[in-house]
Amino acid sequence: MARSRLIALSIAVALLGVAAGALWFFSWLNTPDRAAMTLGRGISFGNVLEAPREGDWGLRLDEELFNRAKEAGFDSIRLPVRWSNHAATTPPYRIDDAFFKRVDFAIDQAVRRDLNIIVDMHHYRQLDGEPLDPNEQRVDDGVLEERFVAMWKQIAERYEAADARRVFFELYNEPHKRLTAEAWNRLLRDALAAVRPSNPLRPVIIGPAPYDKADFLHDLDLPFFDRHLIVTIHLYEPYEFTHQGASWVEGSSAWMNTSCCSDSQRHEIEQRLDAVKRWSRWHFRPIWVGEFGSYDKADYAARQRYTRFVREAIEAHGFPWAYWDLASHFGIYDPANHAWRTELKDALVH
Ligand code: BGC
Repeated sequence: MARSRLIALSIAVALLGVAAGALWFFSWLNTPDRAAMTLGRGISFGNVLEAPREGDWGLRLDEELFNRAKEAGFDSIRLPVRWSNHAATTPPYRIDDAFFKRVDFAIDQAVRRDLNIIVDMHHYRQLDGEPLDPNEQRVDDGVLEERFVAMWKQIAERYEAADARRVFFELYNEPHKRLTAEAWNRLLRDALAAVRPSNPLRPVIIGPAPYDKADFLHDLDLPFFDRHLIVTIHLYEPYEFTHQGASWVEGSSAWMNTSCCSDSQRHEIEQRLDAVKRWSRWHFRPIWVGEFGSYDKADYAARQRYTRFVREAIEAHGFPWAYWDLASHFGIYDPANHAWRTELKDALVH
């Protein structure tokens, strides 16, 4: 009797151990979920620091942008930055201190208003194999990747002490073309290896090549043991609606007068979000919809319908998001007249 009790007790203890281990394992797998959820509702400061030089695209970083984001009720700011045009072209690829101070300013402005901020590397056009913009510097093709990694090492070290609950890193916006899925999977590991020594717990955001498109999540290869990663996707479907008349998209003038949102357009959006949800559950990686939005050539009433529908669909799937963008062509704010495009803003936050 005593023996069978002992056996029963041992089995019970072993089962408890297994259950505790499984609980621990699943909570470890889900570590980044909480960080992702704090991103909540966000807004990109487009056309500001990712212009070749600040001001080149008509916008400058000032307190007004932060005040507007806060007053509207956003939780997070995404800050696209063209680091590559402010770093030396030869080793150690030093980032210009005056430019760093602009990003310091942005982080400080966000944090003092209790806003999260995502520091994003944007438009390293030569790395993507794209033609350079006016005012952009060229580097030797052979150093593109090591320069990318060297910039991340500097950014990570500079913001090492920044609050990890508020300040997020996004490795690279919309890798594409020269950055094939294979090249990107390699480079993202190298960049993470440069970030992690100084920022072991910082949430780092990464999306799939090409263009952070949801359809290519299956090609994204993340280091399994790094549990402080958040996966981003950009959702611009229906593309012929959101990008009608966009000067940088060939053929888009033919899409003028495309409307939104018919049953089939809604279905397309829902289906894509469903697939993303399945991927996220299967891979134990949280999702952040880092961009969606529509260009101002589309009909304004249709843009309101689009914005509300997509925002609600994203939230119904449980994903945090950031709209593209605050004050440029997709914007919900008109900086020239210091006025909200109220209907668009209210479709996002109210
Ligand atoms: C690009 C912008 C573009 C937007 C919508 C962003 O990732 O940086 O230049 O306007 O996507 O296409």
